Amino acid sequence: MTKKNKTPDQLRSARWFAPDDLRAFGHRSRAMQMGYAPEEWRDRPVIAIINTWSDAQPCHMHFKSRVDDVKRGVLMAGGFPLELPALSLSESLLKPTTMLYRNMLAMDAEELLRGHPVDGVVLMGGCDKTTPGLLLGATSMNLPAIYLPAGPMLRGNWKGRTLGSGSDAWKYWDERRAGKISDKDWVDMEAGIARSYGTCMTMGTASTMTAIAEAIGMTLPGASSIPAADANHIRMSSEAGRRIVEMVWEDLTPQKIQSRRAFENAITVAMAMGCSTNAIIHLIAQGRRAGQDISLDDFETASRKVPVIANVRPSGDHYLMEDFFYAGGLPGLMNRIKQHLHLDCVTVSGKTLGENIAGAEVHIDDVIRTVDNPIYKEGALAVLKGNLAPDGCVIKPSACDPRFLKHTGPALVFDDYPSMKKAVDDPDLDVTADHVLILRNAGPQGGPGMPEWGMLPIPTKLVKQGVRDMVRLSDARMSGTSYGACILHVSPESYIGGPLALVRNGDRITLDVAARTINLDVPEAELARRRAEWKQPEKRFERGYGWMFSKHIKQANEGCDFDFLETGFGKPVGEPSIY
Ligand code: FES
Repeated sequence: MTKKNKTPDQLRSARWFAPDDLRAFGHRSRAMQMGYAPEEWRDRPVIAIINTWSDAQPCHMHFKSRVDDVKRGVLMAGGFPLELPALSLSESLLKPTTMLYRNMLAMDAEELLRGHPVDGVVLMGGCDKTTPGLLLGATSMNLPAIYLPAGPMLRGNWKGRTLGSGSDAWKYWDERRAGKISDKDWVDMEAGIARSYGTCMTMGTASTMTAIAEAIGMTLPGASSIPAADANHIRMSSEAGRRIVEMVWEDLTPQKIQSRRAFENAITVAMAMGCSTNAIIHLIAQGRRAGQDISLDDFETASRKVPVIANVRPSGDHYLMEDFFYAGGLPGLMNRIKQHLHLDCVTVSGKTLGENIAGAEVHIDDVIRTVDNPIYKEGALAVLKGNLAPDGCVIKPSACDPRFLKHTGPALVFDDYPSMKKAVDDPDLDVTADHVLILRNAGPQGGPGMPEWGMLPIPTKLVKQGVRDMVRLSDARMSGTSYGACILHVSPESYIGGPLALVRNGDRITLDVAARTINLDVPEAELARRRAEWKQPEKRFERGYGWMFSKHIKQANEGCDFDFLETGFGKPVGEPSIY
């Protein structure tokens, strides 16, 4: 029996539909124009279903029909569903980078909710930026909300071999450049690496962010691990529809779920999952929206104590998200690290996290390891600081060659992506495996939008010699499916004059992950001279959304939100006048 903390006349939607006046007459008559009788909405929670389906979004193909399963659940529970389309942000097709538009989706979601007569929302997303985009918007709006993850696609297949999203594309591209696989092999892989709808099935940004959404309490228990093509996903969608109606009556809002302790749970789970580096940026932004001061230090603290136990690529060596689901999924993993979690945090299920995961089992120990037998003894990410990155940068030590965890080498600097791309194929490029490849002007402002360029390609000359990893340094991000000794998110970024802008070819750079340091071995007097000579590259935008973006985007260590959006729950949400 649903506990009702609201009466029908207290529903937000009643302000549109209930009054006996001219405006409400318009709202009701137009609902009837769509064929809905008053009995279908009167005294019922109106549930928005924000759907990020589009013909340009392969990861969300199934949302076109899955939305009907959510509606079925809403109707069954006595609600009235309204599907509202939002930006679909396809990671694979959108240029220059979806990160340029994450905040636009956040604004889209927030304003869709604010402007429409709705009482609660099911958020349908999954492809990388859609999870944080939708959650940022819903967090700011603070109506009861459930996140519905798209679910990972099935394993890729090529000649009977398993292929993983992204990771195997990078791997076999190097093999092709080294002449070890044929053009035909490459074309066959193209047809086999993404063979069902759903999100990337490695532990990329999509799987990381949906796991985080579950750990923070915003999805139904176990929802983030279910493969998109599994019938469990359909049933979970219907259940989300049923549950959101109850949540409206209970008045269970994101504010009541997204506590400081819930964010700590999310960071802990991210570390144990071998998460994408992108998790840091999105969680800091979401924390600030929620009024919780989440910083790089929180990740660093968790990283020191939580081991990586999800043996999923790219941190793991073999398994994919489909295997993770069969092994017990996120509830199984969380049960294995429950000593690091705040089990009393409330979730959208109406139960605590501890209640959600009680009795959750792990069925395949090699996929979800025990904490005594991890795949990496510390957390997935490490935050480094030093004179090259005074506000921090990030490395994923669990996914790089261990010999680079302590390294000194000469810099080879590129000022932009096109010149780097051209140079790496030059057979005469003056580079060794000890060099530190640097890409700058690739941060939030410089990219623009901080593209996923941080896994710089190994120069072809070295690939042919068998080199498969080397230290790479940038103010860009990298895909969660990427791997290697890539140091990312250098803050402040070079485009605004951060120290990365001062590096010259041949300068020596020292990295020490155990000590969490990264430094440029150049005297301060010389750096001051270079700083005085430095000129900012040309403006990225003169008009439009890009202009607004460049005026208001914050740095990576601050979550890359717009400065005018990152207010917390302390401020009342403005409601539209309906007259
Ligand atoms: Fe959509 Fe990877 S491209 S999740």
